[in-house]
Amino acid sequence: MTPPLAIRPATAGDLDAVEAVERHAFPEGEAFSRRQLRYLLEHAQGACYVACRNGEVVGYIALLTRRTARNLRIYSVAVDPAARGCGAGQALLDAAIALARQLGLHEATLEVNVTNDPALRLYARNGFRSGKLLRGYYHDGADALRMSLRIAGEPRE
Ligand SMILES: CC(C)(COP(=O)(O)OP(=O)(O)OC[C@H]1O[C@@H](n2cnc3c(N)ncnc32)[C@H](O)[C@@H]1OP(=O)(O)O)[C@@H](O)C(=O)NCCC(=O)NCCS
Repeated sequence: MTPPLAIRPATAGDLDAVEAVERHAFPEGEAFSRRQLRYLLEHAQGACYVACRNGEVVGYIALLTRRTARNLRIYSVAVDPAARGCGAGQALLDAAIALARQLGLHEATLEVNVTNDPALRLYARNGFRSGKLLRGYYHDGADALRMSLRIAGEPRE
């Protein structure tokens, strides 16, 4: 039986593990550097969560907010290849959507490579709608699709 998955806020102490997930999840050149990951974990305005199994970090999600904006930006999500297909990506996305609700935000947005089928399926399954096509969005010239999810809930005030 697959051990249960736990989602918790990331801490500075998760940097090594998050970096390892990032290296395994993205091809060289596409992965965030350690410095970028440290910024996302420790300084960025938003939140980071990690998915843990048997106490080990198997995935993370980085979320950004802006004081004046009403949307939560899903900046990065990754699961170690060995831990995929068991619901970690879904659980991390659930945490992001729950945070958006809690903050009274209206929308969650993200950009995804048009060829990234597993990610496109995950977002579509969760009700994200396709928006603008961003040509040449990535370093290698690949196109991205902007996707967004309307968040139901009480607006903050
Ligand atoms: C996209 C990504 C985060 C998904 O993570 P994941 O942990 O595999 O996601 P899930 O396990 O929730 O879902 C993946 C599949 O497993 C299936 N699944 C989930 N739990 C399952 C279970 N217990 N039994 C069988 N199948 C299951 C899901 O239905 C889904 O199937 P589908 O792809 O056919 O729709 C992962 O592929 C990844 O890290 N990719 C590289 C980084 C990346 O591209 N990030 C996105 C950038 S925009």
